[in-house]
Amino acid sequence: MSLPTRPLAVTINGHRRGPIDVPEGLMMIDVLHEMLGLTGPRLGCGIGICHACVVIWDRDDRTSEEVRTCITGAHFFEGKSIRTIEGIARRDDTGRVLALSPVQQAVLDKFSFQCGYCTPGFVMAATVLVERLARVPVPRSEVEATVSAALEPHICRCTGYVRYYQAVRDVILATPGLTRDAG
Ligand code: FES
Ligand code: FES
Repeated sequence: MSLPTRPLAVTINGHRRGPIDVPEGLMMIDVLHEMLGLTGPRLGCGIGICHACVVIWDRDDRTSEEVRTCITGAHFFEGKSIRTIEGIARRDDTGRVLALSPVQQAVLDKFSFQCGYCTPGFVMAATVLVERLARVPVPRSEVEATVSAALEPHICRCTGYVRYYQAVRDVILATPGLTRDAG
């Protein structure tokens, strides 16, 4: 017996993928891993808690948000535009990485990770945060709390939280336009 399928077309990292036939009810992480070869979003808990599996959904209103792909059916993404960790660095036409994003570079410089399993999720969360602050800057005095609130849903089993938080805070403080004077 074969499962009923439905076509799925998604723009991923700026490239339209599909339509491909995807079984009804299949979670997006399975499509990314098994059908599209994108294994950067990590399967951790599989039940929506650890956030290792997130992708960024780029909404039509130009805002972005994290979506957990282990608990979100693939067809939710029909016609949508998303980014995976593979699409965060700047690449040339052959796919070679030209430059890491500021968040990726800071995470590397700070050596924020240990095993690295949770790293894609943290990078996606920080990327969404940086993009939000570019639209709505926060007072410098609120950066620490803002970073904590954004990263708090992400679980690191190696307990490497401190350097993630420091890396993201440093990027925000060093990037013009993300913060404003209080008042
Ligand atoms: S694997 Fe998706 S939230 Fe843990
Ligand atoms: S670095 Fe190992 S789970 Fe976070």
